[in-house]
Amino acid sequence: MSYLSQKHLLGIKNITKNDIELILSTAQNFKEVINRPIKKVPSLRDITVANLFFENSTRTRLSFELAQKRLSADVINFSASNSSVKKGETLVDTVNNILAMKVDMIVMRHSSPGAAIFLSKKVNAKIVNAGDGAHEHPTQALLDAFSINEKLGSIKDKKIVIVGDILHSRVALSNIFCLQKLGAKVKVCGPQTLIPKYITSLGVEVELDLKKALEWCDVANMLRIQLERQDIKFFPSLREYSMLYGLNKQILDNLGKKIVIMHPGPINRGVEITSDVADSNQSIILDQVENGVAVRMAVMYLLAGKQE
Ligand code: CP
Repeated sequence: MSYLSQKHLLGIKNITKNDIELILSTAQNFKEVINRPIKKVPSLRDITVANLFFENSTRTRLSFELAQKRLSADVINFSASNSSVKKGETLVDTVNNILAMKVDMIVMRHSSPGAAIFLSKKVNAKIVNAGDGAHEHPTQALLDAFSINEKLGSIKDKKIVIVGDILHSRVALSNIFCLQKLGAKVKVCGPQTLIPKYITSLGVEVELDLKKALEWCDVANMLRIQLERQDIKFFPSLREYSMLYGLNKQILDNLGKKIVIMHPGPINRGVEITSDVADSNQSIILDQVENGVAVRMAVMYLLAGKQE
């Protein structure tokens, strides 16, 4: 059996192309499993996983929990809002107390960039980053890569544009690292104020005109404006943002070619994407969600199998 070269999944930046390909091929096997009448396998029967969510989540939290249950792991769930974090307990103390209950693996979402890396140096457990602030969201990038590969047959040389709030997006950063490692060409598109200055140093081109970006690409990944991470105004109004960077059916139909539409969720319908695009047959948004379970099964299965 093959294992990941890493003990943790903290981000995509520092994992190898081989690791990514191993996760994607293992996820393919798990996708077949979860489409069977009996969706469960005993692979993580003796493993206990704690899901620690210090920030809101629907898809990632439920997808990890379902993946753990499909793998027969024991699961405990923690959300910061009703925990003793509110009484002043530190992250490391909280996690060490959870680990004292014989927990093997931690899946964590946190609002602070670098929180998963920090934790991996402080505690003795396998750590999976389920999103750390505006830094990385590795399992989202992996499920996005899986979904593109499933739809288009390959990722190498495909042209992918990531549209919207690049500055505050962990999905954008992890996608850029993942897609480039797999040989795709990546552009970002959005208002200049929402595109970080360092982005071209990652080998990514910037296109400020949505129509030109869409004419260039095979796949458009539409991101949500992350108002919760914006303490100043980066554009005059959501209405203006939508007029310049929102994707609607008319723009899509005028392209003269069929591109694939993605969105990591949650969607703000009518802002970055209209309902008729989100629900069209060019959209693979719900396929992304479906594939998230198989990809997260693969990640946890491969990490659990790796020896210290
Ligand atoms: N894509 C994503 O991370 O969604 P949630 O915030 O609902 O987990």
